[in-house]
Formats: sequence, structure tokens, C-alpha cells
Amino acid sequence: MVPLPDELRLEGDRVVLRDWRDEDAPALAPVCGEWDVCAFSSVPWSYSEGAALAWIDRQRRKRAAGTVLALAIQTREEERALGNVNLASFSDDGREAAIGYWLAPAARGRGLATAATALLIDWGLGTFGLERVEFAILPGNLPSQRIAERLGAIPEGIREGSHRADDGRWWDMAIWSVRGSPRRPTSSAP
Ligand SMILES: CC(C)(COP(=O)(O)OP(=O)(O)OC[C@H]1O[C@@H](n2cnc3c(N)ncnc32)[C@H](O)[C@@H]1OP(=O)(O)O)[C@@H](O)C(=O)NCCC(=O)NCCS
Repeated sequence: MVPLPDELRLEGDRVVLRDWRDEDAPALAPVCGEWDVCAFSSVPWSYSEGAALAWIDRQRRKRAAGTVLALAIQTREEERALGNVNLASFSDDGREAAIGYWLAPAARGRGLATAATALLIDWGLGTFGLERVEFAILPGNLPSQRIAERLGAIPEGIREGSHRADDGRWWDMAIWSVRGSPRRPTSSAP
């Protein structure tokens, strides 16, 4: 475990990342049951307010336990949670972590995931002192790989059978990483 901040709010040009709150429970509804989200995260397959509140509570517990730093993604204009971005799988020395993210379908295609991921990676490599942030992406997930590419991540190849989905199958992942100093999206700003 690593010491994670009790509270965190990160403000970027386009998005704000902030702690999950109980009133965000409905934000999980649009992704409950989506395979790309639920198979590799603890987001419930079926939505109920109770299941969503339990998920939010688990994020708090994992934060306190130093295992996952999950933040809700919102725009600067609106407090409504649109998605999640997290750092997890911290190495014992606290120098490495993996990043994960999802957005509600209605919020996709506007560059918000790229902006959110950039903001958390900047914080991780800067303030928090990580030296490497890893993306593990299903090889067919082209939008996610594009995000890694936009953030200047380096492709490290396929790690075979590295991630177990909650159906029990092991999946190959395309591994990308960013190291050292904070990265900004390349080319046009999202
Ligand atoms: C992955 C996810 C967060 C991307 O959200 P998004 O809003 O589309 O992300 P962004 O708009 O910030 O960036 C997506 C990039 O992929 C590109 N893209 C979208 N569809 C694509 C496709 N089929 N092929 C290649 N690139 C594609 C977009 O053009 C954009 O690149 P650009 O900024 O250079 O134009 C969203 O699809 C999601 O929540 N998926 C389910 C969960 C998931 O897969 N999480 C990642 C696990 S590793």
C-alpha cells in the first residue's frame, strides 16, 4: 500500500477530477453491464442505487487502504460525474502504478477521457512522485490505445494472459507506459 491523499481535487482546462460522492451513484447506471467497463473493474453489471453506493464506498475504502485512487470526472461547467479515472496496482516502492478509466457513453468522443487521464498522470508523475504509469489495454480497444498514444505513452508490446476478467478468462493486454516528467496530449489539445 502507498499513502494516498484523503481528499483530492484536480482542475484542468476542460475537466475536474474530484472524489466520488454518494450523490454520484446514478453516474454508474450508463456503464453498468458494459463489458469493457465491468469485466475488468468492480463496476456492477446491473445497476441499483445500493450497488452503486457500495461501489463508491469501496473506492473510499481502497483509497484509505492505499490501493486505488479513484476520481470522478466532471467538466468545469457541471458537477455531474461523467466517468472515472484511477491509479491502481501500485508497486511496493510506490514508484509505479496502472491507470484505468471509463466514461458514460453520452460523454464519449469529446476528448474528456484524454484530458482526465492527462491530468491524473501529471499529478501522479509530478506531485505524487511516480516514475512510471502503465496502461494495460485490450488490443482491440482502439480509442483507449489512442488515448495512450496522445499522452506520449510508449508501446511496450503485448503481455499475454495478464489480466483476468471476472468471467474467469485471462486476456492479453497491450502495454503502454509513460515515465518521468508529466506528459501533455500531443497534437491538437482535447
Ligand atoms: C476508452 C474511453 C474512455 C474513451 O473515451 P472517449 O471519450 O472516446 O475518449 P477521447 O475522446 O478522450 O479520446 C478517444 C480517442 O480515440 C479516437 N478513437 C475513437 N474511436 C476510435 C477507433 N475506432 N479507432 C481509432 N481511434 C478511435 C478518438 O478520435 C480520440 O482520438 P483523438 O483525440 O486523437 O481524436 C471510452 O470509450 C470508454 O469509457 N470505454 C469503455 C471503458 C474502457 O474501454 N476503458 C479503457 C480500458 S483500458
